[in-house]
Amino acid sequence: MKYQESLTYLIEAFGGSDNLQKILGVGPSALSNYRRREHLPFNQAQKLSELAPDYGFNLDPYSLRISPVNKKAKLEILLIITGGIAAYKSLELIRRLQDFEFSVTAVMTESAHQFITPLSVSALTGNKVYSDLFDLTDEQEMGHIQLARKADLVLIAPATANFISKIAHGLADDLASTICLVTDAPIFVVPAMNPHMWANLATQENCRILRNREITFIGPDDGDTACGENGSGRFAETSFIISIIQKKLLSNENLNIFFENKSQQKHLIAKPLAGKRILITAGPTFEPIDPVRFIGNRSSGKQGYAIAAACALAGAEVCLVSGPVNLAAPSDTRLINIETAEQMQQACASELQVANGLQIDCVICAAAVSDWQMVELGDLKLKKSDSGPPQLRLKETPDILSWVGHHPSRPRLVIGFAAETDTLKQNAQSKRMRKNADWILANSVIQSGETVFNSDKNEILFISETKEEAWAADNKQAIAQKLVVHISEYFSSTDLDRNC
Ligand code: C5P
Repeated sequence: MKYQESLTYLIEAFGGSDNLQKILGVGPSALSNYRRREHLPFNQAQKLSELAPDYGFNLDPYSLRISPVNKKAKLEILLIITGGIAAYKSLELIRRLQDFEFSVTAVMTESAHQFITPLSVSALTGNKVYSDLFDLTDEQEMGHIQLARKADLVLIAPATANFISKIAHGLADDLASTICLVTDAPIFVVPAMNPHMWANLATQENCRILRNREITFIGPDDGDTACGENGSGRFAETSFIISIIQKKLLSNENLNIFFENKSQQKHLIAKPLAGKRILITAGPTFEPIDPVRFIGNRSSGKQGYAIAAACALAGAEVCLVSGPVNLAAPSDTRLINIETAEQMQQACASELQVANGLQIDCVICAAAVSDWQMVELGDLKLKKSDSGPPQLRLKETPDILSWVGHHPSRPRLVIGFAAETDTLKQNAQSKRMRKNADWILANSVIQSGETVFNSDKNEILFISETKEEAWAADNKQAIAQKLVVHISEYFSSTDLDRNC
């Protein structure tokens, strides 16, 4: 963290500028001088460092780094990886759990070794990977009982039908299943398997048994599975898994592990967008040609939904206005389903109107809105005729981003996307100015040979008035989290400027 950011962070951690000024015995101009010069006199830093434990954290006066008072700083997740094709997704899950300050120790079943190596898991967790129930070295270092006991949560991801069946029947023939019998931590199961295996009555019966034992299931999702079939059985979205875990582990009772002072929780737990209202558009729009046909596009809505989930996870109040997609509503968001561009604009208009009392802070237009709609719509289906194909008379749809950008109640931060096939940077820059957006996230429609629309990955060129950043190809959840970090930084610096 840069020194200036640390100062911003400190002001929040010490209960806002007014309180910090009182503590330091200075006025508002001195505080903004400290920020501008990126310098806090050492005697002041020492004063804060001495007081910090009263606010529930430690502060290093040299670097201004904050750390929790309690040594048990990170919650422990024991991740059981079982042997399914989705095992590789657990690698990404480990990285994201660490982003959210969880410590991860992994146990792999024997068949999981067929899909990923313990070496890669260990490299990511930074901890030894356990597999063998009868490994003498492991028993000397950390018996399987302790391994199960030190966990704050046991997460089985991916969970195969076989493993679900084993724990439903209380088998303990390997380390992973033994841990499930020994632990008194909550157990979360992320199933991933062929849709027929998932739908099979035996599997469903096993899941019912486990649910009755208060074991939580996350997913599976619907869609294409690795075995080439379509249906329910996909490994749930990483951001969704993390949101469920956060809810469980960061409940009030667990928060007290970290902080004695409740007012610090808001700032130190990853809720940087708490109190912010964010409106997001996502998915395609369908513009009817007649009662059965429409003009649409290939947008899957995945990027917009991932952004909505990430904003909600960061504590924002999120309204998601979505065109027709095949995705479940992200948790903790208010979803408004629409079909056409005009309906999308109306939904946004009523959200902005509410803003007269409660201002919307940020709009993110991630929708792929159709550019054209019919001038006139008949009630009847257009028929083939001898005179050839019908001449469709089209007019432009409302440009929602541009309309929000020029709106009298324009939110403080307006963000758009630009999907381009060529001259990415120039097009995105001129789009940003034309639509009066603060930021444009530009992406090329064709990325590494596949279109971005139904892909799980994205690669972004971030453009604002003052800077340009290339965000390397990553999954859409990771891109969403990166955007949340930028939004949080934007608000923390502009909120501060307003207060000073
Ligand atoms: O002009 P273009 O469609 O390339 O602009 C893309 C950006 O504008 C995206 O953020 C998209 O959500 C938004 N947009 C909109 N309404 C339209 C067309 C685009 O909000 N009718």
